[in-house]
Amino acid sequence: MIYFDNSATSLVKPESVYAAVLDAMKTFGGSGRGAHNAAMNAARCIFEAREEISLFFNGYGANNTVFTQNATEALNIAIFGTVKKGSHVITTENEHNSVLRPLFYLEDKGDITLSVVNGNKNGVIDPKDVEKEINDKTSLVVCNHVSNVTGNKIDIFSVGEICKKHSVPFIVDASQSAGVFHIDMRKNNISVLCFTGHKSLLGPQGTGGLCVKDGFYIDPFKQGGSGVQSFKRTQPENMPERLEAGTLNGHGIAGLLAGIRYIKNYGIGNIFEKEKHIAKMFYDGVKDFKNVKIYGDFSSWDRGAVVGINIGDIDSAVISDILNTEFDICTRAGAHCAPLVHKHFNTENQGIVRFSFSHFNTEYEIKKAIDAIYELNELYEKGEI
Ligand SMILES: Cc1ncc(COP(=O)(O)O)c(C=O)c1O
Repeated sequence: MIYFDNSATSLVKPESVYAAVLDAMKTFGGSGRGAHNAAMNAARCIFEAREEISLFFNGYGANNTVFTQNATEALNIAIFGTVKKGSHVITTENEHNSVLRPLFYLEDKGDITLSVVNGNKNGVIDPKDVEKEINDKTSLVVCNHVSNVTGNKIDIFSVGEICKKHSVPFIVDASQSAGVFHIDMRKNNISVLCFTGHKSLLGPQGTGGLCVKDGFYIDPFKQGGSGVQSFKRTQPENMPERLEAGTLNGHGIAGLLAGIRYIKNYGIGNIFEKEKHIAKMFYDGVKDFKNVKIYGDFSSWDRGAVVGINIGDIDSAVISDILNTEFDICTRAGAHCAPLVHKHFNTENQGIVRFSFSHFNTEYEIKKAIDAIYELNELYEKGEI
């Protein structure tokens, strides 16, 4: 099997991740649920993971690193816990539904007004267009770092500067960039960085979290057991317990910690270069096929390792199914939970066939994929698909 659906979730993980999960399953009690050796095994590992993640993003320490089950939960916590009733929020058309749906929900309830910034013809967002939308009611800017459909990257440094200038909190969805690009919360003036553990951070599914700027207040999202202050009627105020309730996914977090350590060891710059090489090889191999259309901005390779294509007017699901059944190549068709990107490119009906790469992919696999697209292009020419 050739796996090119790494933007959904990475399939190949480092051996150390598998080993860490198995070891955790055999040795972990409930973190924060006792002081015996098994509970402490979990607690120590989770604390180390908080520290490692905070260092990784130049965040604000272990206590400001909160675990969730994925980026969606992290974004829900960040958005619902921050937004002020009657205020204005800015986002972009590149967003995933994990940003759009919470914001649309708040907008439909009448709690906020919303501005959605559009990209240029290739879907690139200009930070100046974000600034143009700021008014005196703006309480939040939320955007992703890298689009999961096109791989386009937004200049979060400039957006962060704008947010700093206007004293507006800045939430970044790093689902597609964490583990591939250096992200510095302080340099980019990020108030909350939301990440998912199972994509480029190479951890297991069921992991994710948010790193919160010191002193930045987010209302509790869940209420429940925290292992501390059990006689208090409400969720503890202190972080990270304020934003966590219930037994943490210690097994998954152990795997995530191993994933991040692998990335540090391999070198994030090396991962980026390898992914870039692989993605560029695919892009160069298919871009001149007569009926292939590619979506996004490829004028620079400072971008995610994602190449979204279509062949003529064929439904993306048909192409993706043939790639799977005839060529054993896994891609993702359809809308990728990012409806406004498809509105932008007029692909709401056709969808896009997304190839998303990992540094574990090989040149051999790319050659196979280029050959497959060549064949499909020929079949399309002959009217056979
Ligand atoms: C840009 C972006 N944001 C958020 C998410 C949600 O991630 P998760 O499914 O881990 O919650 C995804 C997942 O595809 C994504 O690509």
